[in-house]
Amino acid sequence: MEQTLNEKLLAFLAASPTAFHACRNLAGRLEGEGYRELLEQEEWQLQPGGKYFVRRNGSALIAFRIPTGGVRGFLMMAAHSDSPSFKIKEHGAVPTAGMYTRLNVEKYGGMLCSSWMDRPLSVAGRVAVREGERIVLRLVNVDRDLLLIPNVAIHMDRSANDGKKFDPNVDMLPLFGDASAEDKFDALIAEEVGARPEDVLAKDLFLYPRTPGTVWGANEEYLSSPRLDDLQCVFGCTEGFLRAGETEETPVLCVFDNEEVGSGTKQGADSSFLEDVLARITEGTGGNLRRCLARSFLVSADNAHAVHPNHPEYADRNDRPEMNKGIVVKYNANQRYTTDAVSAAAFTELCRAAGVPTQRFTNRADLPGGSTLGNISTAHVSVDSVDIGLAQLAMHSAYETAGTKDTEYLVRAAEAFFRCRFSRDEDGISLR
Ligand code: CO
Repeated sequence: MEQTLNEKLLAFLAASPTAFHACRNLAGRLEGEGYRELLEQEEWQLQPGGKYFVRRNGSALIAFRIPTGGVRGFLMMAAHSDSPSFKIKEHGAVPTAGMYTRLNVEKYGGMLCSSWMDRPLSVAGRVAVREGERIVLRLVNVDRDLLLIPNVAIHMDRSANDGKKFDPNVDMLPLFGDASAEDKFDALIAEEVGARPEDVLAKDLFLYPRTPGTVWGANEEYLSSPRLDDLQCVFGCTEGFLRAGETEETPVLCVFDNEEVGSGTKQGADSSFLEDVLARITEGTGGNLRRCLARSFLVSADNAHAVHPNHPEYADRNDRPEMNKGIVVKYNANQRYTTDAVSAAAFTELCRAAGVPTQRFTNRADLPGGSTLGNISTAHVSVDSVDIGLAQLAMHSAYETAGTKDTEYLVRAAEAFFRCRFSRDEDGISLR
């Protein structure tokens, strides 16, 4: 079971070099399970027992089921489809030193730059293509080793091991070929989508690392791959959502784009996407959105930091997440994580009943830490919410590391969550 699940996870990671590909793969998975796609510009006919999903921008997705007993509230899990990368500028080719062609890029999100050096890279994303009178979008994945960002030799930069600075406008341009390659990039992309170069009107293309995912360690306890943050949670939430089957409550699976750049896009968590979909579910089933939201719960799932083997001092003195030790519940006094006593109690009790271990993360009090989807989503759809994740190393590296047992824990917790029954009284909420 465990091996099969990790193989499925690695296959999903490999097939999802960008948010567009992740979203397309999820849509295919959902369709295979009998889910029907709804379009936002059309009228929705929602049936009891119906299974649906909605996409926005081809990079965000919300899936849900209508219970046969009607909609009384929503049990939601959210994760994000995007990862830090480098976006290729519209005019990509940069002739260099009379002997090279590099590609002109800018940063997307906050990556660890050093991890992108000296490893094979390629390009994926989407392009807009003119087809007669129409403009059509095509996904692209140049599925071969195509690019590389070379380090400067230690002999030329003796300070390279003493706190190297990376200037994205100088140090991070990938090498594409020799001087003759100047016109080849646009031609290559056009060829990949079966179009003439002049018909490729615009592009959303990103670099991605080619190193395949692998399971390793003395006991095969670790799993490494690009984009574990946050496709590991996307995968785990989706598997749990599908395993839950027919449920009494209304399960909602949310995959948002653009978390790595602040979520403030029409397909990000800081948009009306979730509220729009929930409002249409209640309208389409004769319910009341405000009353449904008062008996709803959101689990925001985004990976967490494991204690670092070389730098254990960066972790909090008491709460020290360990890979393969279960779901990490994240706490922050300033509510960068939404977890509070009510949501933490309800969620950890749910996990305990399902036999899923949990642990805690809190930032060291003198380190600011990151933020995630939960508090952005609940600013739009104000429901009780908990922030969780799976423990990993090297977050935002081109090659991240997590535990081989934890995906299964997330799948089981998600299944238990989507199957549970929500209740609220004056002392808080329970998920049973
Ligand atoms: Co993340």
